[in-house]
Amino acid sequence: MSQNTPLPSVLLIGCGKMGGAMLEGWLEHGLKPSVVLDRHEHTLPAPHVHARSLTDIAADFTPDIIILAVKPQKANDILAELAQHYPQATLLSVMAGRTIESLKAQFTAAIPGANPTIIRAMPNTPCAIGAGITGLYAPPQATEQQKQNCDRLIRSVGETVWVETEHLIDAVTAVSGSGPAYAFLLAELMEKAGVEQGLPQEQARKLARHTVYGAGALLEQSDLDSAELRTRVTSPGGTTAAALAVLMAPEAWPTTVPKAIAAAAQRAQELSS
Ligand SMILES: NC(=O)c1ccc[n+]([C@@H]2O[C@H](COP(=O)([O-])OP(=O)(O)OC[C@H]3O[C@@H](n4cnc5c(N)ncnc54)[C@H](OP(=O)(O)O)[C@@H]3O)[C@@H](O)[C@H]2O)c1
Repeated sequence: MSQNTPLPSVLLIGCGKMGGAMLEGWLEHGLKPSVVLDRHEHTLPAPHVHARSLTDIAADFTPDIIILAVKPQKANDILAELAQHYPQATLLSVMAGRTIESLKAQFTAAIPGANPTIIRAMPNTPCAIGAGITGLYAPPQATEQQKQNCDRLIRSVGETVWVETEHLIDAVTAVSGSGPAYAFLLAELMEKAGVEQGLPQEQARKLARHTVYGAGALLEQSDLDSAELRTRVTSPGGTTAAALAVLMAPEAWPTTVPKAIAAAAQRAQELSS
């Protein structure tokens, strides 16, 4: 398929932090005529339109994919309405913790014969600059065409990884969905520590942020394992080694990072029950 072929048409439900981040990338790549449904006003370039409710949408609009990007706890009402308008829809849910079964149950409770195909995706906010990473899961019912459409759409805002079982989406949520926040925290703590070491605030900020950015870019461009990249910048007895001795102490990062990721995965599971 040519790079100029427009992306599938979407009905994006929820244009907040995540929906908005993905939409920015899609608009840049070129999207078939699409609709953004959100309570807040959004100005979209023609031919795309904003709607405040499903009843505002033209009756002949049939999106290739409906993206669910509202908070998980706010999805039920809209799902019942969606079932009435698009009972056989292809849904791509980016909601943390909502299982395919629970989403389908809302659909069929509203319209007993409804039979949507629901694919789950867990993106992250760097999608806004085309540097996202998204884990996806498709149930056996999904066709190759449906999976390809979802993959094209999501790959336009970053990389994709398809997982084999639905419960692994919770692990994706914990590693990469929530992951940008861990990197931001690292930048924040490095900046504070830089100030404690005597640097002016602005300089500490620039040094910390650009270091996290540069290390990320190096990881992306290198085929080496991250452990190997770390070893290569660590001279025995040097300054980096002194810092890593603190960070890599058994009770430090080797314990807290897996614990933090397990807590996020646990929370994703709780949200689904
Ligand atoms: N943020 C992330 O980093 C991230 C990463 C991966 C996945 N996700 C998933 O993405 C989903 C959205 O998260 P978010 O952080 O983008 O939330 P958000 O910023 O609150 O965005 C959701 C948007 O949808 C609107 N909305 C909710 N229900 C609606 C309805 N019935 N009709 C019209 N508009 C409606 C909300 O309006 P109101 O403000 O009026 O409610 C809001 O503008 C969540 O399920 C989350 O699990 C988020």
